[in-house]
Amino acid sequence: MSERFFERLGNVERTAWQAIHESPSWQRLKRGIDRDFYISLMTQVYHYTRFNAQNQALVAVGLTSERLPLLKYCLHHAYTEAGHDLMVLKDLESIGVSAASVRSSRPLPETEAFIGYLFRLKEQDATARLGYSYWAEGCYPYLEDFLVALRRDLKLAPSQLSFLVAHSVIDKAHLEEVKDILRETCGEAPELQEGVVHVLETSLHLMKNIYDAVHARNPQK
Ligand SMILES: [Fe+2]
Ligand SMILES: [Fe+2]
Repeated sequence: MSERFFERLGNVERTAWQAIHESPSWQRLKRGIDRDFYISLMTQVYHYTRFNAQNQALVAVGLTSERLPLLKYCLHHAYTEAGHDLMVLKDLESIGVSAASVRSSRPLPETEAFIGYLFRLKEQDATARLGYSYWAEGCYPYLEDFLVALRRDLKLAPSQLSFLVAHSVIDKAHLEEVKDILRETCGEAPELQEGVVHVLETSLHLMKNIYDAVHARNPQK
């Protein structure tokens, strides 16, 4: 049953990324990325990443030792995500953008919607948030065009791309942990699987809205 579930998650994930890749925002980024677009996009990434530990910890609050592996997973994962927003600040500082300006910027409405949605996941079973983790920890193969454009157009070195490069190494292990806990908690529970699939689809769509919003607000030069 788990294998069919993972197949379904993979299909939903691929379809959602396909929509992103076909969008004008992604096509533009692929053709050529400019500094303003990159700064604007990473500023949004900063704003939502800053709350990943918190929204993960919040779903742990509703759990007890009755579901000990899941409780431990949520607490541990919240801890390991703490501070990852600082990688974005460091990367932006390396191209001359002050951390203070990023911190004091206002998130776009689409980013606020994404942040708000992730906080509201506490209203669902704690397994539902795994739908977000599933694609977020495994997003790197889908970001290849973005990385190619950043190296080609902005001449960024790996040391300036810690959020996208060094982070991807940490997230390899995170993705395996997500799969393990999904197998353990949802493998035989179709109703929990539905929750995970729904969150994967919805959160990735909300992420697409962020790409589109950044594109719309940064006219191509
Ligand atoms: Fe992270
Ligand atoms: Fe992670």
